[in-house]
Amino acid sequence: MTTSQPPAAASDSPLVRAARGLDVPHTPVWFMRQAGRSLPEYRAVREGVGMLEACRRPDLVTEITLQPVRRHGVDAAIFFSDIVVPLAAVGIDLDIVPGVGPVVAEPVRDRAGVERIRDLVPEDVPDIDESVRRLVAELGPTPLIGFAGAPFTLASYLVEGGPSKNHEHTKALMHGDPDLWHDLCARLARISGAFLRVQGEAGASALQLFDSWAGVLSRADYVRFVQEHSAAALAEVADLGVPRIHFGVGTGELLTLMGEAGADVVGVDYRVSLTDALERTGGRWPLQGNLDPALLFAPWEALERRVREIVEEGRAAPGHVFNLGHGVLPDTDPDVVTRVVELVHEVSAR
Ligand code: CP3
Repeated sequence: MTTSQPPAAASDSPLVRAARGLDVPHTPVWFMRQAGRSLPEYRAVREGVGMLEACRRPDLVTEITLQPVRRHGVDAAIFFSDIVVPLAAVGIDLDIVPGVGPVVAEPVRDRAGVERIRDLVPEDVPDIDESVRRLVAELGPTPLIGFAGAPFTLASYLVEGGPSKNHEHTKALMHGDPDLWHDLCARLARISGAFLRVQGEAGASALQLFDSWAGVLSRADYVRFVQEHSAAALAEVADLGVPRIHFGVGTGELLTLMGEAGADVVGVDYRVSLTDALERTGGRWPLQGNLDPALLFAPWEALERRVREIVEEGRAAPGHVFNLGHGVLPDTDPDVVTRVVELVHEVSAR
């Protein structure tokens, strides 16, 4: 597979410029989970097709990724896939259960389980390369954001066997057998880095590392057990020269550590204001965030006030990409999402 550069216009788009800390015509805006069940056109296309299957079909991936761009006029597309797609691609037996999330057939809790996890090679995911190339061609000046799950969040699904509130098996392994934990995370970092690289080499304009569940860790544990592995995944794509966004939920205490892992943009969830995030990170990184996804259900006046505040707070950062603090909730009214995009563009126009 040959390496493709992102289109020049996408590399000079508001999203990429903001991520590099350059001036922008308006604050760029996109939403985590902008593709998905909130859109009737998504539900129609997904009818009768399993999530993992949908993620491996370039026709569906292309259509679903483009849907929110057409409908909402967002400043970026996020590649339609899932953090567990590369794990399935290296042969781990798992499924994505509707309303639940990823479920792993055999939880990984011992050395034999860890040693079965092999590296991802581009030949495992030719469809991902194809989907990204098709999308980059269709999107033109609109940047495509590729992504992967970070080692800790992937490890949590593998060790727990599915979604978890307390992450008790994960933390027990981490503290009980640090060598095995580091071996597991090193393998996941290579998979994650390779998955990012496939998307970057096929022309994605930015890459986001999702460490969704890292907020359950103390700073000390993040440093001791996690940071180096996320850093390894991010380092795998450093030479591509596209901005790398590093996001987690409830990671207010970890923002600087996540930036120092090698990110170009630090994602902020809604529990910490952008003003506080800016102070905590010392203005070292552009920020992405951070509207509470539940506010999309609030009366327009309340929502509008909050959107304006976030845009205003973002002006003080070295760069600001407007987003939610986490993903669009399935019952969200898509028209409200479109209105928020219009409002962000209007109030931030320079
Ligand atoms: O629009 C986008 O943001 C792109 C698509 C995307 C999906 N998953 C599609 C998806 C992205 C970026 C992800 C990443 C992902 N997957 C994360 C990190 C982001 C986050 O939300 O913190 C995590 C933790 C997962 C694991 C996962 N996959 C969960 C928790 C779920 C939800 C389960 C459910 O049904 O509520 C999934 C399934 C999933 N991934 C769906 C979508 C659109 C829903 C499945 C469906 O529509 O049938």
